[in-house]
Amino acid sequence: MKLLSVVAARPNFMKIAPLVAAIKKHNEEHPEKYIEHILVHTGQHYDVRMSEAFFRDLNIPDPDINLEVGSGTHAEQVGNTMIAFEKVLKEHRPDWVIVVGDVNATLACSVTAKKENIKLCHIEAGLRSGDMTMPEEINRLVTDRLADLLLTPDRIANENLRKEGVPEEKIKFVGNIMIDTLEANRDKAAELKISDIIRNNLLNDAKDLNGFDFTRPYALMTLHRPSNVDSREVFEPLLHFLTQDVAIRMPLLWPIHPRAVKMMKEFGLWSMIDDNKDIVLLHPLGYQEMLRLNMDARIMLTDSGGLQEECCILGTPCLTLRWNTERPITLREQGGISVLVGNNVELIRKEYRDALKSSSIKNRPELWDGQTSLRIVDFFTRNFVNQ
Ligand code: UD1
Repeated sequence: MKLLSVVAARPNFMKIAPLVAAIKKHNEEHPEKYIEHILVHTGQHYDVRMSEAFFRDLNIPDPDINLEVGSGTHAEQVGNTMIAFEKVLKEHRPDWVIVVGDVNATLACSVTAKKENIKLCHIEAGLRSGDMTMPEEINRLVTDRLADLLLTPDRIANENLRKEGVPEEKIKFVGNIMIDTLEANRDKAAELKISDIIRNNLLNDAKDLNGFDFTRPYALMTLHRPSNVDSREVFEPLLHFLTQDVAIRMPLLWPIHPRAVKMMKEFGLWSMIDDNKDIVLLHPLGYQEMLRLNMDARIMLTDSGGLQEECCILGTPCLTLRWNTERPITLREQGGISVLVGNNVELIRKEYRDALKSSSIKNRPELWDGQTSLRIVDFFTRNFVNQ
């Protein structure tokens, strides 16, 4: 059986690492049922810190093929990926294409695979935010409509797919593959020193850390969604909230996404944040570094999908700076620890104060047990290995 899996952007790497490891383990234990695996990187994320560092940290072998599509508008990214990926499929003819998550390449490679009559498997199927202004929602819907095998992280996702008329035999609840990576890296992360992480990743080397108390509770933040950072009307009040409400109480550690840096500079808001002595801007962090900071953070402010899930397992109170989430299982009303606060500063302020009063609640949804990749490989070998 020949599988070809695709990665493109940062949030994909932690979803593919356990799958690669599980295939390797299977091949060592069952050479008679050998799975050939080709790893394709589309190159959507290309910076060392956004891509290469994750391959190293997570022990992912170098991709067999890199399409080097880079950045661009959505149409450029999708179009260029499809053109390059079609050539790969024509040459390698895998039995299955496996895509993960909801980035532009997930959509582009799904469409291309199906047009080549190649079977398609989607890991992390069935997540729905209901928000069609989110590019990721469009990517999820198209991918799930085309997929032959939809591997879901939770039972809410199963229900979403059923409501859309996906036949039961295509849906398989396997759990959350990201948690495999979290569990595999927990011990290594715990060994890292927070002060080292900060010193090694300072965005502004000249930042004065003299007198900075590394033992104080801190807030941790990430922000990259176009809906939060691309318009000044939204971004500027958020930044004021950070200086006036957060940094005044505790240091704020902010590993910052290239998109947010670009927009802050464009809006002339850079120095307001960079000059604040209690806001520490960091380069995008490695996987274990981020996990380490999350383990001890007093509170998380984020618009990322994956961090909501990691906070849920680690018990870090999480303010999700979005009006909706495709991951409702992480919300307080489902037993999780995340709360949706959108980008309305009044609401964020209220929830921020409440969250600081609340204690840490760890919640492990069903099958978020670190074994998802093994279940996936087992499913493939039981059902399709003689192809
Ligand atoms: C993409 C994904 C999003 C995911 C996020 C995580 C889509 C539609 N969006 O959004 O789902 O949560 O990745 O990071 O696929 N850039 C760099 N260096 C890089 C990568 C990007 O400087 O290595 C710059 C690009 O030039 C661009 C900006 O960052 O200006 C945004 O990159 P892009 O890949 O278009 O989207 P993300 O916002 O990262």
